[in-house]
Amino acid sequence: MTFTAVLAGCGAMSRGWLSALAEHPLLAGRVEVVGLVDLDRATAEARAAEFGLSAAVIGTDLDAVLAETKPDLLFDVVIPAARQGVVETGLRHGCHVLSEKPMAATLEAGRQLIAAAKAAGRVHAVVQNRRFISGVRRIRRLIESGALGELTALHCDFFIGAHFGGFREQMENVLLLDMAIHTLDAARFMAGVAPKAVYCLETNPKGSWYGHGAAANAIFEFDEGVVFNYRGSWSAEGANTSWESAWRIIGTRGTLIWDGGETFDARVAVDGPGLLRDAVAMDVPAPADIEQTHGHASVLAEFLDAIEQGRAPETASTDNINSLAMVFAAIESARTRQRVTISV
Ligand SMILES: NC(=O)c1ccc[n+]([C@@H]2O[C@H](COP(=O)([O-])OP(=O)(O)OC[C@H]3O[C@@H](n4cnc5c(N)ncnc54)[C@H](O)[C@@H]3O)[C@@H](O)[C@H]2O)c1
Repeated sequence: MTFTAVLAGCGAMSRGWLSALAEHPLLAGRVEVVGLVDLDRATAEARAAEFGLSAAVIGTDLDAVLAETKPDLLFDVVIPAARQGVVETGLRHGCHVLSEKPMAATLEAGRQLIAAAKAAGRVHAVVQNRRFISGVRRIRRLIESGALGELTALHCDFFIGAHFGGFREQMENVLLLDMAIHTLDAARFMAGVAPKAVYCLETNPKGSWYGHGAAANAIFEFDEGVVFNYRGSWSAEGANTSWESAWRIIGTRGTLIWDGGETFDARVAVDGPGLLRDAVAMDVPAPADIEQTHGHASVLAEFLDAIEQGRAPETASTDNINSLAMVFAAIESARTRQRVTISV
């Protein structure tokens, strides 16, 4: 079937959504964009022209465009501060809603949106595209296979000197809320066990061009004794990591090192005498499902599949709130300088 959709928020990220919808084989012919909304009309008009959407209704008032177009879907690509109102408006018009991350600007807002989607009987999901990549899927498979033994720890480094301009430079807790949400979600997915508690130190390093929270060090306790150690900064110049971070993942038999790109080094120890054990290299399996490795296109396809099949998508808000809760617990820990229990 072909779904009709309105997209709200025609800024930088909307190009990624519209390109995926227009070009990706997973999405061919599945969605007709019937409306584009932005507070700045010229921004929406420019996107419509760029993607040849001459028949789409253009507007600055989401409510009015939804009333006119009556779409099946609302694609929410607005800034986080506007998210709650936009999602609630979409649900009120009977749309299934797919939002950009973060799912909400507060945990309470996240809970309210889950309740609103349930009351409306509509699918509500989040673009957590950085779990839909080959490396993350391969690591999940490796951990599940038990080849590293039982998982004990994940360590990750995210260091990128990113000069975005725009809303991020004024945003509170910018690294944790706008970026670490991806990394924390990926860790939760790869580990396959639930986060329980966190200790976090959040800083805005000397020389930072952000207003608040451009760096964080957070230690998460997961179920089954697994520890996840996150170190990140958006104002670290000179030696950028991958956007996926650089990882060291340790099990009872061995370790996987992943550079966040194409390089994996997995080794397991062999029995022997002496202080240090030899280690032998091991293959990291291919992703179980290649269709889940295409970022935004995979999230969008999963959202459409779930609606068609009457099931919850992988990044349903009811699950994604567990990643949001990791972020807000880290923020709370940094504020109170205490260990904080993670609960939704
Ligand atoms: N998943 C990813 O990898 C990824 C990457 C970048 C950004 N994002 C997310 O995408 C979202 C948008 O980010 P961006 O970089 O495109 O920001 P942006 O500032 O470039 O664009 C946001 C647009 O939303 C519009 N807008 C704001 N409030 C609105 C409202 N109430 N109704 C309609 N339009 C409204 C603004 O006018 C602006 O044009 C954010 O949540 C961001 O975190 C996700």
